[in-house]
Amino acid sequence: MYAQEVKSTGKAVKSLEEMTPEERVFQTRIDADIKIEPKDWMPEGYRKTLVRQISQHAHSEIVGQLPEGNWITRAPTLDRKAILLAKVQDEAGHGLYLYCAAETLGVSRDQMTEQLLAGKAKYSSIFNYPTLTWADIGAIGWLVDGAAIMNQVPLQRCSYGPYSRAMIRICKEESFHQRQGYDIMMKLVKGTPEQKAMAQDALNRWWQPSLMMFGPPDADSIHSAQSMAWGIKQNSNDELRQKFVDQTVPQATYLGLTVPDPDLKWNEEKGGYDFGEIDWNEFFEVLKGNGPCNKERMEARRKAWDDGAWFRDGLMAHAEKRAARKIAAE
Ligand code: 3HC
Repeated sequence: MYAQEVKSTGKAVKSLEEMTPEERVFQTRIDADIKIEPKDWMPEGYRKTLVRQISQHAHSEIVGQLPEGNWITRAPTLDRKAILLAKVQDEAGHGLYLYCAAETLGVSRDQMTEQLLAGKAKYSSIFNYPTLTWADIGAIGWLVDGAAIMNQVPLQRCSYGPYSRAMIRICKEESFHQRQGYDIMMKLVKGTPEQKAMAQDALNRWWQPSLMMFGPPDADSIHSAQSMAWGIKQNSNDELRQKFVDQTVPQATYLGLTVPDPDLKWNEEKGGYDFGEIDWNEFFEVLKGNGPCNKERMEARRKAWDDGAWFRDGLMAHAEKRAARKIAAE
């Protein structure tokens, strides 16, 4: 297992011989597919990696509501509006399950939010792109939620119990999200030439950012080797990206749309598509805060946090009063 993981990412992890006795017992448990639960001993690096990944995932779900929320008032029919509302609410729910899963690792939701607002925690690069037309809502459901499912189905088998269990429900809901996106695209490609052109334009703009969602190439992925050895990630970034391309290209063909990649070509030998170079410079710029909507997204989160201060203060004051009453009654 180890040799294979090191090969796929090109990075080394500690061998069993190099581990402390506690680490060895922990790793043996992971290799035997036994879940790690909150009160079990775990290496500090494992805990930190999970807090980093789960909180980033939670922030992505919450920030991910913004580009789509932008279209709730402008959805073309009442049905589409109801479906989009339900989807955006699902994303809020996913954020909550994930914050709860991270809280089991000893970090509070407030601390995670403060890390996001201070620029110390990330959220997915994909949510820094604008939703310019209704077709973007179709493309997000089809491609962005499609990529999310590809990445998140293996996370159901993550070695950390609370994260893996949260992912089961999230994946079920993401499947509905992907289907609703594809359904929007189907409708548009069967519509007027202008509507079909709108669908193609959305695919053109969302294709590369969707491929970037899987993270940097394996050779540049800092965490993959260790996360795979710890059973947090089951697959490398490039493996999942390849699976996504192989699954999505036939879906584009069925829609009668063209994937915006002149180098895209079926490779019989590998049984998958070869595809063109991704603009990694753009990816790293977005991560640095220089994407088209980074500032807008962070401003929205900051405003929500500030606007909610009175409510958090009210909850704390209420809890303190109750605690004081309880002490007085004892
Ligand atoms: N956006 C922003 N940052 C990214 C990124 C992306 N698409 N891909 C990688 N990064 C960051 C990593 O966080 C890491 O930075 P850090 O050290 O400051 O945390 C750095 O780039 C190097 O990447 P690695 O490959 O070493 O990082 P990971 O091993 O953590 O892999 C990942 C990245 C595949 C995104 C992994 O963290 C993961 O699987 N996360 C869980 C899923 C998730 O967060 N999905 C968000 C997608 S959106 C979503 O779910 C909403 C849905 O409704 C659409």
